[in-house]
Parts: sequence; C-alpha cells; structure tokens
Amino acid sequence: MPKIRNIELPDFPLLLAPMEDVSDPPFRKLCKEQGADVVYTEFISSEGLIRDAAKSVIKLDIYEKERPVGIQIFGAELDSMLQAVDIVEASNPDIIDINFGCPVKKVVCKNAGAGILRDIPLMVKLTEEIVKRTKLPVTVKTRLGWDQSSIKIVEVAERLQDVGIEAISIHGRTRVQMYKGEADWKPIAEVKNNQRMHIPVFGNGDVDTPEAAVKMRDEYGLDGAMIGRASIGYPWFFNEVKHYFKTGEHLAPPTMHERVEAARRHLQMAIDWKGEKLGVFETRRHYTNYFKGIPHFKEYRMKMVTSDDAADVFAAFDEVQEKFGDFQFA
Ligand SMILES: Cc1cc2nc3c(=O)[nH]c(=O)nc-3n(C[C@H](O)[C@H](O)[C@H](O)COP(=O)(O)O)c2cc1C
Repeated sequence: MPKIRNIELPDFPLLLAPMEDVSDPPFRKLCKEQGADVVYTEFISSEGLIRDAAKSVIKLDIYEKERPVGIQIFGAELDSMLQAVDIVEASNPDIIDINFGCPVKKVVCKNAGAGILRDIPLMVKLTEEIVKRTKLPVTVKTRLGWDQSSIKIVEVAERLQDVGIEAISIHGRTRVQMYKGEADWKPIAEVKNNQRMHIPVFGNGDVDTPEAAVKMRDEYGLDGAMIGRASIGYPWFFNEVKHYFKTGEHLAPPTMHERVEAARRHLQMAIDWKGEKLGVFETRRHYTNYFKGIPHFKEYRMKMVTSDDAADVFAAFDEVQEKFGDFQFA
C-alpha cells in the first residue's frame, strides 16, 4: 500500500487535485465524504502569503474532517518560498505540496509553476531547501516537461526523490500542451518503472471514468490517481471509482434529491466559510455538473448562476427538487 511518510493510504488511492477556486474547504469536505483519500488545496502564492495578502491567507484554512490534506504553494524565489513554508506549517496541514505544473502565463513567466521545467537545477534546489526547512512530508505536482522535446520526467522525478520528496503527482501533459490533446500516461509509467523510485507515483490527467482509473492502475501500474475536472460538481466520482474497483459494476448515479442536498450543503458551507458574496459566486461553477443531463434545465441553471443573493439560489434548488424530483439520471 502506498504511504506518504506515516500517512497510510489504501491500495490505489484517489487524490483530489489542487484546483484554483474549486478545491476549497467545502468542496474538499464533500469529496472526502465521497471517498477521496487525500485532498489538496488550490495553489497558494508564496509571495501572497508572506505579504499577508488576505486572499492567500484564507486559503490556508482546513477542516479537521478533511485530513489528510496537503497545502499547495507556488513560487520561484527561494527566500519567499521558505518563509511561505513556515506560514503553511503553522496552519498544520498533513503535507506540503509544491506546484511545478501550473501552465498559466502570469505564473510561468516568473519561472514559477511549470515555468521551472525550463530550469531543472533550480527546481531541484528549491525542493531540497523546502524539504530541509519543514518537518512535514513534501510532495510535488508537475507535468511531463516544458515541451515534447524536453521531456525528462524520469530523471527529474528521481532527482526530486533524492532530495527528499515523499510522493509525486504527474499530469501527463507538457506545459506547451496546456490542456489540449490527451494526457499521455506512458512517461508516468516510465517514472514508476524506474528501479530507483521508491516513493508513490500518482498519475493525473483525464481520469474521468471508473474504467480510466482501472486502466491507470492495471495497464500503467501507477500507485494512485489524482482527479481534477471529473470531480467538479460531481464529488460522487471518487465513490463511483471505488465501487467499480470492488465490484466491476457501475454504481447508480446520485438521485435528484442527493444532488440538490449536496448543492445546498456546498453553498451553505461556502457561505459560512467565505461569506455570501464569494460563496454564491464561487459555487456557481459546480452547478452544471450537479444537474447535468436534465432536459430544458437552462432556465433553472440561469437562476443559480446569475443571482448574487443566496436566498434566490436556495429557492432555485427547491424549485428544481419540486419540478424534477423524479428525474432518472443515466
Ligand atoms: C479550474 C482548474 C484549476 C486548477 N488549478 C490548479 C492548481 O491550483 N494547482 C495545480 O497544481 N493544478 C491546478 N489545476 C490542474 C489540475 O490539478 C489537474 O492537473 C488537471 O486538471 C488535469 O487533471 P484532470 O484531467 O483530472 O482534470 C487546475 C485545473 C483546473 C481545471
């Protein structure tokens, strides 16, 4: 069974991917309840943390019930990253994760995120210093490489392991690919097959069906799957994959009642955590998937995603329950 230091994980664990404005405490809690084995926060700027920017600091909040939880940081300046590590450590997560995979221009151009894939010695150095600085286990999330011609992930993963990281999650795309094309899990399997690797190697990218998770486990031999987009508005995905692992059968999809209840709890927790304005705004992106497949739903979805008033959104949930309560999801 894979382990991240003393965090014992089940066979082929499922990890909730770090996702900006998505992997917040309320959503992480829902995913945890539905079987996610490890959850990660969205990426947090080390510069923002050391400036005490409220927007960054609030992202350090964790609920006890979601453990084990990893806080993900990004940056490219050693000093700021080390100071950020101290701040992160004080909020007592189980893991510190370093983001070496974000492809967004404003991050990459500062050499942070996937930008660092153009400077592997710096990537290794930053990691080494962070590992030395903290008593927490450090994990890394990265991509295959900067572009197709510079994929050196086998060597990179080994070097990161040698400076002390305790697990690695690899998104099977390069920075240049952004989110285009299909994720390629072959180079991730090569990392796993490197005889010198002894830390867990988690695969990421396009695990969007239980069958895909089985393929990643059985054909690619990876230690677990990190799941991003398939969970947005669909925290049940983790449980569905686990059920399929156990039985080879698909779990019945959640009923309308379960979906409405999850949306309601999600919104309420988001409001309690970040206030009505942000809570209402940031939960919006989940509704399409919560209610996917219902015909003639646009009118109701529009009510959910255009009102700034939580009472209107809760009323829309009630209306949906009332009108579509018997709808059978495929
Ligand atoms: C909305 C969104 C926000 C993301 N934010 C982050 C982030 O903060 N940190 C990170 O390492 N990756 C981030 N990612 C990338 C995901 O963690 C993951 O690597 C990617 O979506 C591929 O996995 P998937 O096919 O399961 O979605 C983000 C992805 C999405 C869709």
